[in-house]
Amino acid sequence: MPTVPALRSTPAQRARSTAALAALLPALRPRATEALGRLDGEAFLARLEVGFLDLHEALVVLYAPRTDPDRLLAALVERCLAAATDRREELRLLDRRREVDPGWFQRARHCGYVAYVDRFAGTLAGVRERLDYLAELGTTYLHLMPLLKPRPGPNDGGYAVADYREVDPRLGTTADLRALATDLHGRGMSLCVDLVLNHTAREHPWAEAARAGDGRYRDYYLVFDDRSVPDAFERTLPEVFPDTAPGSFTWDDELAGWVWTTFNPWQWDLDWANPEVFAEMLQVVLDLSAQGVDVFRVDAAPFVWKRMGTDCQDQPEAHLVLQALRALVRVAAPGVLLKAEAIVPPEVLVKYLGDHDHYRPECDLAYNNQLMVQLWSSLAARDGRLITAAMSRLRPPPPQTGWVTYVRGHDDIGWAVSDADAAAVGWDGHAHRRFLIDFYSGRFPGSFARGALFQEDPASGDARISGTTASLCGLDRALELADPALVDAALRRIVLLHSVVHSYGGIPLLWTGDELAQRNDLFWATDPASDGDNRWMHRPRTDWAAAERRGDPATVEGRVFAALAGLSRARAAQLALRAGGESTPLGVDDPGVFAYRRRHQRSEPLLALVNFADGTRTVGADVLDRAGLTDPVVAHASDPHDAVPLVDGRLVLPGLGFLWLVSG
Ligand code: GLC
Repeated sequence: MPTVPALRSTPAQRARSTAALAALLPALRPRATEALGRLDGEAFLARLEVGFLDLHEALVVLYAPRTDPDRLLAALVERCLAAATDRREELRLLDRRREVDPGWFQRARHCGYVAYVDRFAGTLAGVRERLDYLAELGTTYLHLMPLLKPRPGPNDGGYAVADYREVDPRLGTTADLRALATDLHGRGMSLCVDLVLNHTAREHPWAEAARAGDGRYRDYYLVFDDRSVPDAFERTLPEVFPDTAPGSFTWDDELAGWVWTTFNPWQWDLDWANPEVFAEMLQVVLDLSAQGVDVFRVDAAPFVWKRMGTDCQDQPEAHLVLQALRALVRVAAPGVLLKAEAIVPPEVLVKYLGDHDHYRPECDLAYNNQLMVQLWSSLAARDGRLITAAMSRLRPPPPQTGWVTYVRGHDDIGWAVSDADAAAVGWDGHAHRRFLIDFYSGRFPGSFARGALFQEDPASGDARISGTTASLCGLDRALELADPALVDAALRRIVLLHSVVHSYGGIPLLWTGDELAQRNDLFWATDPASDGDNRWMHRPRTDWAAAERRGDPATVEGRVFAALAGLSRARAAQLALRAGGESTPLGVDDPGVFAYRRRHQRSEPLLALVNFADGTRTVGADVLDRAGLTDPVVAHASDPHDAVPLVDGRLVLPGLGFLWLVSG
């Protein structure tokens, strides 16, 4: 069995960290004061002190084998001081506000929009022209897909970065990025970009130096002279892209070695056990923060640390890397957040939000992948029981943090339905996953969905699914048949799923095109950049002609746009929907319905009822009491209501309808 470090701080470690801090401060204090002035200098030091024990411990565990952690820490703090010194006033003001109001990102008014710069608006300057459109939708948080200079040729949608210091010239310049951030901030919006830290492109200067024979840079990557170590690792390593990029190592002639490539052969995994890699990546984050980036989506976070004999995901050190990175970024730029992209089993997800032996600040936000998967599962099964069981098991995020919730993103949907959850409702996990694959690929008789299989494994029958929300919700077939009832059902499904991500707590993220019910891009394969990767079918270019129709309630676009904008308006007023609270599924007596109570600390609860069935369903009104509502009123709903729809002691929900109830 591999040895895994115990991550419980010991008194001896704490004493060592305290001594390290005491040794650091005397020389640092006058320098911080000189660089930042007395007030900001002391604030800088205070931030360092607050996070110091966890930060120091993390660096000891990660790097003591290779370097003196105290000297490393001192050097990293220097980088933070330089970044803090150069930080523009506009950003310092934001930092100030956010230090006063650390829960700034948790407010219910926040709604996200996620898009590719080129597909949404051509360039970064073009995005600035579209901010009114986003505001109309209720967007306060804009995540732009990878926008740094990628490698030429296939680059996994920008996830193969060739230069972290340069914006992709097709999209604009760093000055454009800065200008966009300034515009967003002026509107009370924030900017999220990807931090691709597990790997660089084979064409990144570090990789080029390694290929040219520079040993220092060869050590930035995981390179092996022969197959013995790779073979040993591969015994327990799952493949991420078995179809298109089998194996996890790639032979490179110039390196004369096998380089670790978890994803594609031209995405080289960095060796995070090398402290220089840590320092380089910290600098990347500091530099992008200086451009005005507010949130970093930490791409593929669980993969950064490798351990023989494991699947090399979610190792304890991966958490330490995130904790150390976050602590240092916060010292320099306290308004900046980390958001974890960790597609891991639900029971370990909250660790990315700092839920360890004690709260160790880690990421501020994390994708609630389980909710996304369960929503699609419920929609296909027309059943709310499995989502009730699965979401009951998910631990709440620590109060300082929150989920990002989403219906769809740029990736495929992997059927992370656990056997235990399935068994809890009397289903067979394997059979249900097979059903979902068949259903969303359209093979299942009577399926409304038009998705495609992604990375199908013919041996096991396992596969993930590509396709836009609208296509997976049945809009293609409905429009082809020109059947108004089917169109209505498809649109209701789209809105139903979004109603949950808008009311489950956290920041809801709208994937580009969903607001216009854009269907699969049938021409994805003709774009050479797609490189045979069918995830491009659900990464559409914004159809601005369709967007013009968004004000017309007689159109598909008008209906969906208005409903989604309505959800963001409705949630803004609900304290219960602030991130960091708890969502508690409440079982109800109709299997088609998913009910949950949402509360933030001691706020008045919000009860959401979601009917995944096609027809009207009713649930016992006792759920109102169980949710703690008094004199309930409708806060928002799929269909207009004069009053709470109660008939004979039962709450009535129309097919594919939802209700948000609060105390009157
Ligand atoms: C993340 C991204 C995915 C990408 C991978 C490698 O999982 O979401 O699109 O392929 O990382 O960067």
